[in-house]
Amino acid sequence: MSLHNKSDSYYQLWKISVGAEAQDVLACALELGLFTQLADGPKTIAEIAEQMSIQLRPAEVLAVTCAAIGVLRKDGDRYANVGDMEEFLVEGQALYNQYTAFGRAGYVDPERGAKIKEAILTDSPQKGAGWLDKATGKSRPSMAFYPKRHHLRIIWGDCVAQAFDFSKYRKIVDLGGATGGHLVGIARRYPHLDAIVFDLEYNRQGAEEGLAQTDSSGKIAFQTGNFFADTYPPKTDVFFMSHVLHDWGRDRCMCILQRCYEALPEGGVAIAAEFLLNEEKTGPLLAAFQGLHVFYNNIEAKQWTGSEIQQMISEAGFQDI
Ligand SMILES: C[S@@+](CC[C@H](N)C(=O)[O-])C[C@H]1O[C@@H](n2cnc3c(N)ncnc32)[C@H](O)[C@@H]1O
Repeated sequence: MSLHNKSDSYYQLWKISVGAEAQDVLACALELGLFTQLADGPKTIAEIAEQMSIQLRPAEVLAVTCAAIGVLRKDGDRYANVGDMEEFLVEGQALYNQYTAFGRAGYVDPERGAKIKEAILTDSPQKGAGWLDKATGKSRPSMAFYPKRHHLRIIWGDCVAQAFDFSKYRKIVDLGGATGGHLVGIARRYPHLDAIVFDLEYNRQGAEEGLAQTDSSGKIAFQTGNFFADTYPPKTDVFFMSHVLHDWGRDRCMCILQRCYEALPEGGVAIAAEFLLNEEKTGPLLAAFQGLHVFYNNIEAKQWTGSEIQQMISEAGFQDI
């Protein structure tokens, strides 16, 4: 469903901000010889991975982000170079890497470029980037309760409340809800809901501060919990999770979804909100670049397509997806 909302403005600005990162991905793909490898014909992710001696996951991240910025195209299940662009992107060609007004292009942010390259070569997150703490390798509290994100979550929550009718439900739990902004957005349209933000303890302070400023329903509470291990709040009839599944590999996602299924009464629902990759895995831009972010920051991360998530939800036992 497409909704005109404040989020449209936000997404447009976010897309512009992807520009510098897009150049870093292109510089990385050039440096690792992706386009030169594809000069003899389109290749599947497995073939790209084998030829570049990298794992499947980074091969997919690289191909998807390159497709999203239009420097690769999809030919059936294979990724291919884009026509005349080979002259600029394939080593040995006359105009190789001469595509800016000033000639050769490099990384916009060499530090970030090095992290992206290292993550692609090693299939491992680069500590110090994003929400991993350099010293401990654990997620950094400051990222999760960053106050501005609370207001963005409220906008997202409003979109969810426009897309789904919560009238007949009583209690909603936002798994990994951080500051609880989504619940604020949802509760503004459905003030009858009891709502719980279920997240790790380090998010408590940010959530309580954010909710104190923005929760007019007064029914949203924070509960400390680990969604892999702790009992989910009882009598919940809606489990909501936003940008949570993309942090985890298939087994961990299945664990969360199965635990939701087991905790729900008959007729209960689970809602997963994500920036979905399209089924061809060629974009859209924000999903592809969010996939890049979680890939080089989080250990198990994977940006999912709609059908991949549907498959997991169905395997967890849910019907009427
Ligand atoms: C990418 S953030 C998403 C935050 C929010 N839902 C949103 O859409 O902006 C992932 C959230 O999952 C939480 N999280 C990570 N591991 C968790 C766990 N084992 N149990 C509960 N929450 C967890 C993090 O603290 C963080 O708030």
